[in-house]
Amino acid sequence: MEIRELETDELDYAVLPCVDPGFKRTMKQGISLRKEFLMKMKKEGLSVLVAFEDEGKWEKIDYPGVGEVTLEELSLKGKIPAGLIEYVPIEKTIFPVKGENLAFIHCIWVIPPYWKKKVGQALMENFMTKTSHLSGSAVIAYERESWWGFFDYMPECFFSKFGFKEVGRNGNSVLMLKNYGNAKPPALILSRTGSASSAKRAKVEFFWSTQCSYSWWVAKLVAKEFGKTTKVDLKLINTDRRKTVQKFGLTFGLRINANTIFNRMPSWDEVKKVMKSI
Ligand SMILES: CC(C)(COP(=O)(O)OP(=O)(O)OC[C@H]1O[C@@H](n2cnc3c(N)ncnc32)[C@H](O)[C@@H]1OP(=O)(O)O)[C@@H](O)C(=O)NCCC(=O)NCCS
Repeated sequence: MEIRELETDELDYAVLPCVDPGFKRTMKQGISLRKEFLMKMKKEGLSVLVAFEDEGKWEKIDYPGVGEVTLEELSLKGKIPAGLIEYVPIEKTIFPVKGENLAFIHCIWVIPPYWKKKVGQALMENFMTKTSHLSGSAVIAYERESWWGFFDYMPECFFSKFGFKEVGRNGNSVLMLKNYGNAKPPALILSRTGSASSAKRAKVEFFWSTQCSYSWWVAKLVAKEFGKTTKVDLKLINTDRRKTVQKFGLTFGLRINANTIFNRMPSWDEVKKVMKSI
């Protein structure tokens, strides 16, 4: 396994692992928007470290949740991006946190065929070495948050293994800090909750960012399926700008009448279920 930071002309390796094989065509626009996001944020200090695996001798591999996939579907120019970690100076992040001189992890993702083979560990260790000149690093992780009922979404216990400690909390989302020596704890920017609404139409706000191709896709489906119903007053809020995130305290999620229903990226099925219950 080789781990290295991507150059601007290699960002295809930062989007390929994000999309299940077979879903690439549907996600085409979301993928190119994510690439643009990364390119723009690179100027603000964003880094993506990728764990590359050689193609090896196999032709097909089991991709949990998808089925058998070919080597070709997972690789690009003879290399398989098995996992990535994306991070940025905390002052520039589009996630709802404030702090200083810390590296903030936007996401870590290892593709399912490579789970439990120490790819995540190698990425974390490499990341901590690369950022050791800072005061520390931080992440928003989740406790017992099962995504699609099939994987733990940014699991808090994974980051604990590497010495990250809780410094803030909003329900089951946990702000964690790895102190490299002299770090000042960061803080969550919380969203304002609303009071019961007497309006006839529910005020629904869906938060999405081009940082995540999947969120683009869910936003598109929400607009298509619920944009014209008379029951809801729907607003899609793009959170690519830190100012927007500071105002709402959310990067990904769903609010109804100013009450937060999800404060992370929800799956389409989760959103649909909630919307249908309005
Ligand atoms: C969490 C994740 C990064 C772990 O990657 P991995 O390569 O399977 O982990 P590793 O094999 O390197 O494991 C390193 C350690 O973490 C532990 N670990 C792995 N997955 C874990 C999990 N889900 N929860 C808690 N601990 C976990 C391992 O047991 C191991 O500990 P040990 O050395 O004491 O045995 C991976 O499962 C993943 O990408 N999950 C989804 C993360 C996500 O939601 N990303 C945002 C969406 S884009």
